[in-house]
Amino acid sequence: MPEFATLTVDGKTIQLPIVRGTAGEAGLDITKLRDQTGYLAYDPAFGNTASCTSRITYIDGDKGILRYRGIPIEQFESHPNFVEVAYLLIFGRLPSVDELARFSARLTANAPLHEGMKHHFEGFPVNAPPMAIMSAMINAQSCFDPEFLHLGDDDEKFTEAAARLISKVRTIAAYSYRRARGMPFVYPDPRLRYCANLLHMIFSMPYDQYIIDPDIEDALNLIFILHADHEQNCSTSTVRMVGSAKANLFASCAAGVSALWGPLHGGANVEVLEMLDAIHKGGLSPEQVLAKAKDKSDPFKLFGFGHRVYKNYDPRAKMLQKVCERVFAHMNRQDPLLDIARKLEELALKDPYFVERKLYPNVDFYSGIIFRAIGIPTDMFTVMFAIGRLPGWIAQWKEQHDLVGGRIARPRQVYAGTALTDFVPMDKRPK
Ligand code: CMC
Repeated sequence: MPEFATLTVDGKTIQLPIVRGTAGEAGLDITKLRDQTGYLAYDPAFGNTASCTSRITYIDGDKGILRYRGIPIEQFESHPNFVEVAYLLIFGRLPSVDELARFSARLTANAPLHEGMKHHFEGFPVNAPPMAIMSAMINAQSCFDPEFLHLGDDDEKFTEAAARLISKVRTIAAYSYRRARGMPFVYPDPRLRYCANLLHMIFSMPYDQYIIDPDIEDALNLIFILHADHEQNCSTSTVRMVGSAKANLFASCAAGVSALWGPLHGGANVEVLEMLDAIHKGGLSPEQVLAKAKDKSDPFKLFGFGHRVYKNYDPRAKMLQKVCERVFAHMNRQDPLLDIARKLEELALKDPYFVERKLYPNVDFYSGIIFRAIGIPTDMFTVMFAIGRLPGWIAQWKEQHDLVGGRIARPRQVYAGTALTDFVPMDKRPK
């Protein structure tokens, strides 16, 4: 039974269809608003706009709930397998034993980069930001895979393109790490699983094979799982928007990497570490950092805190905090930055500014400290986030791609510039 809400504007009453989701969310369909009333919907930063219906990820920000294809993320904790979750997100259901084996085999087969791709790395300055390299190299990969530029409705081709991207991005990440350090590239080892292979390509040396610690491998699997999708955030909306122009999967995901790089988005994990480091080096006390974050005349934010959707503890942060404690106990490590993070969290969670605004730690607050413990340098943190997020982008791109009658995304604006003015020839303009 269709449901409607009524809206009266300028004395005219119209009916807006109500769109209901499967978990209780509801939206007003305003697609005909302008035709029927002459008005646009005005919602800068899209804080109140559902840009699509989606079957991939569900978030209840007030209750701190996150589910992938209906499964609460907490349920991935005991046997974390990132590849399995990637499959779930992209194909809509958990893989059977054989399906997972076949998909993993595709990832293994796709891990090496074309030798021609390796020359591209040599063109980057050694201090090039790894996120710039990653975005550029994902696009460059499409030059080596022209058969994937038009996937049409060929499911086999899409599966291979998705596997290629998920696999190659890991090699690209490892190579950008090594390029920045002037170290030789290490080839992927087909005997290793996804996360272990990444650690191998990052850390192994010809004379010193990196020894995979299964607990660290598990931790990395879980970290990637917790980053794997987060519905219509900035980078994912970017991927869908670029995809809505029928741009190919590689170009759309490269755009996602660029969006993720921003310090208010995935780049926050770098900012958190730099903030903790500055406190440690004695620049500012935790109390001064909080005061700065609360000062409205200062653009500084408490990085790793706050979220557009979560008005409760970010469930990913809660799980990462546990991973963090486990990794540190397992490695028998201390890190003064972890103590500072705990102190900042304790202070913020009882500070009226943060309490009133419902600002809690987000996914970026603890992830960097774990990456640092594993030996990943700060400039690679957002790259790690991107590896984790890629299955989500691919799933969202595919959902957008498969829309029947899907239109190019094209927001409107309320023009606020000069209403009408005349051109002034150069000889009449002031000197
Ligand atoms: N420090 C200080 N004040 C904050 C913070 C913060 N981290 N986050 C939000 N606020 C304030 C904000 O200024 C606003 O104050 P007022 O009501 O006085 O104007 C109020 O809290 C509400 O903010 P909001 O509307 O909920 O924030 P938003 O949706 O515009 O921005 C955000 C969300 C994540 C960009 C923001 O919280 C932020 O900048 N956090 C720090 C950066 C960060 O950690 N980003 C990673 C986000 S999680 C990973 C991801 O998905 O990208």
